[in-house]
Amino acid sequence: MLETLKEQPADKILALMQMYKDDPRDLKVDLGVGVYKNAEGVTPVMRAVKEAERRLVETQETKAYTGLAGDPEFADAMIDLILDGTVARDRIAAIATPGGTGACRQGFELVRLANPDAKIWHSDPTWPNHLSILKFMGMPAQSYRYFDEATALVDFDGMVEDLGTVAKGDIVLLHGCCHNPTGANLTAEQVEKVISVLKERDAIPMIDLAYQGFGDGLDADAATTRAIAGAMDECLIAASCSKNFGVYRERTGLLMAISAEAGQTKTVQGNMNYLNRQNYSFPPDHGARVVTTILKDPDLRADWEAELEEVRLGMLELRKQLAGELARLTNSDRYAFIAEHRGMFSRLGLPPEVVERLRTDHGIYMVGDSRMNIAGLNEKTVPVLAKAIVEAEKA
Ligand code: LMR
Repeated sequence: MLETLKEQPADKILALMQMYKDDPRDLKVDLGVGVYKNAEGVTPVMRAVKEAERRLVETQETKAYTGLAGDPEFADAMIDLILDGTVARDRIAAIATPGGTGACRQGFELVRLANPDAKIWHSDPTWPNHLSILKFMGMPAQSYRYFDEATALVDFDGMVEDLGTVAKGDIVLLHGCCHNPTGANLTAEQVEKVISVLKERDAIPMIDLAYQGFGDGLDADAATTRAIAGAMDECLIAASCSKNFGVYRERTGLLMAISAEAGQTKTVQGNMNYLNRQNYSFPPDHGARVVTTILKDPDLRADWEAELEEVRLGMLELRKQLAGELARLTNSDRYAFIAEHRGMFSRLGLPPEVVERLRTDHGIYMVGDSRMNIAGLNEKTVPVLAKAIVEAEKA
């Protein structure tokens, strides 16, 4: 049987991660996978996470199974962090999932269970794994215009025009903040317009919220999600704790499904529990319990928020530095968008051969579509990257 298997296409982001590891050069810069790194290139365990883990080790008395939905306190704490009361709690069903990817997968599974004909509309471009999972599941998918390559900003007219053709009951996948891979995000006014189109088309939003706290702040980054979830009858939200709590390998995420009426929540919850049971039974608990401990303890929470804010401001500073350096070297404002983008990523708009030259000639690794992880830089490597971009473009 196993001899019938064919090679699967490599995930581009993960393949790049491996190439970087295998590169023997001392001077190399990893701007690939979306993992936060400090100026020393380390992905630290956040202070509050360390302390919450210490408390857990000391106080946890059992590792017996949690419920199929995970620990209800985790769901409550996350719902509060993300929605802050904008949707009545009794309209929300939620399951803990293995990371944000697990939440996306279970969200798609829920859509398929409820309406196998629903098409998933996704931004062009979107996180490549959205597309890979949808293809693997055999779900109908279609892109809507999102990114204007010329300005590196949102092609809002194109987006609205495309969303205007969405069929009733289709799902529109949106990034809650810090769009991956482009870094270009909707303004509050644009979100309002999207809401009116979704309502007009009778479409259902699904929001992937993987970078809350990495853009404009914890509340500001939840604003799009709150506005959409608050305005629509139904909404799915796939949230990740990987980045903002730095618990990548603990696989910590939450899928929320908001029903039009509280009376539907019990059945929706039952279906979500069923999906967890079919796919992996009980969701992982350690990361979820760490996150809950932090969110419920005022001191730990304050410390987590302070550290997250340092991370966010550090990335913003790097954005400004890189935009400034490129302005100086190119004598133009061509790269000014880098300072306007938010989150971990910016798509630089470099052709694949330039991205390739950056890797081979300069040891600088970014995804082939020229998505750069700003957190892979530090004060010293910003000028190195800026110079390399200019050289690689000329070569
Ligand atoms: C990324 O986009 O680099 C991250 O979300 C990590 C991943 O799993 O792809």
